[in-house]
Amino acid sequence: MNIFADNIMKDKVVLITGGATGIGKGIATLMGQYGASVMIASRKQPVLERTVDDLKALAIDADYCVCDIRDPAAVEELMKTVRARFGSLDVLVNNAAGNFPAAMDQLSPNGFKTVVDIDLNGTFNMTKGAFDHFFKSVGGNIINISAPFAGWGVAYQAHAAAAKAGIDSLTRSCAVEWQSLGIRVNAVAPGAVSNTEGLERLSEALVGSNNGSTDACQAEDIANSVLFLASDAARFISGEIIRVDSATGVDLLKIPMPADA
Ligand code: HXC
Repeated sequence: MNIFADNIMKDKVVLITGGATGIGKGIATLMGQYGASVMIASRKQPVLERTVDDLKALAIDADYCVCDIRDPAAVEELMKTVRARFGSLDVLVNNAAGNFPAAMDQLSPNGFKTVVDIDLNGTFNMTKGAFDHFFKSVGGNIINISAPFAGWGVAYQAHAAAAKAGIDSLTRSCAVEWQSLGIRVNAVAPGAVSNTEGLERLSEALVGSNNGSTDACQAEDIANSVLFLASDAARFISGEIIRVDSATGVDLLKIPMPADA
C-alpha cells in the first residue's frame, strides 16, 4: 500500500525505540522508505545490527544505538549520538515496551515495576531527552505506542495496562503543555500485530484477533498510522490516541479472571 507522497519524510530524522523488531522495525522501514534517516535504539546490539543491515539493503540511511531507556544517563548518550550522527531530530517514536502475561496474584512488585519502568518511565525519559536536546527550540513530533486496553480493564495485563494508561495521560499533558512550542504529541494503540514478540508472548491469551494470516494486522498497518501522524497532514492533531485494531482491541484478551477459572 502506498498512499503517501514519495519522499514525504525526506530530510527528516526519526528516532525509534525498540526499532529493531516487530512494530518498531515496521515503523523504521516505512519511515525510511519515505525518505527519512532512521536511528533505532534498543538493548540488544546483535538484533540492532541485523535490522540496520536490512534497512541499508533498502537504501535507507540508518544507524543504531544501544540504549536501555530506563536509564536517564543512557538516554542522554542516545540523544548525543543522534546529534553527532544526524545533526537533528524531527520525530521520536516511543515504541519500546516490556510485557508478559501474569495474573495480579502472580505479579511481584519488581515485575510490576519493571514493566512500568520500561513503558512509562522509559517514555518519560525519552520524551524529556528529545525535548531538552532538540524539540524545545525548533518544535518536533512525538508518537507513543500505547495499547487499546489502557482505556479499560484487562485480565493478566494489569502492569502493562497501567503503564500504557500512564503513557496516554503523558501524551495528552505534553500535547497541551508544548502546543505553543510547535510540538505535537500523539499515540497509536495497536491491537494484536502479526510477527511481534508481544503477540508471541500473549498469543495463548488472545481471542481470534490475529491468526497470523495476511488479513490480520501487520506492523505496516501500525506504521502507516504513525507516518500519518508524523506528516503535515496531521498538523492539527495533537493529544490524540488512535486505536488501530479494527475494534478487536475491545475484546482482545479473554483469559478468565481467577474467580471464573
Ligand atoms: C511473572 C515475570 C514474568 C512472567 C518476568 N517477570 N517475566 N513475572 N510472569 N512471565 C518478573 C521477574 O520475575 C522479575 O521480578 C521482574 O519481572 C523483572 O524480570 P527480569 O527478567 O529481571 O527483567 P528484564 O530482564 O529487565 O526484562 C524485562 C521483561 C522482558 C519485561 C521481563 O521479558 C522484556 O523486556 N520482554 C519483552 C519485550 C516485549 O515483549 N515487548 C512487546 C510488548 S507488547 P522478580 O520479583 O522475580 O524480581 C505490549 C503490548 C501488547 O506491550 C498488547 C497487545 C496484544
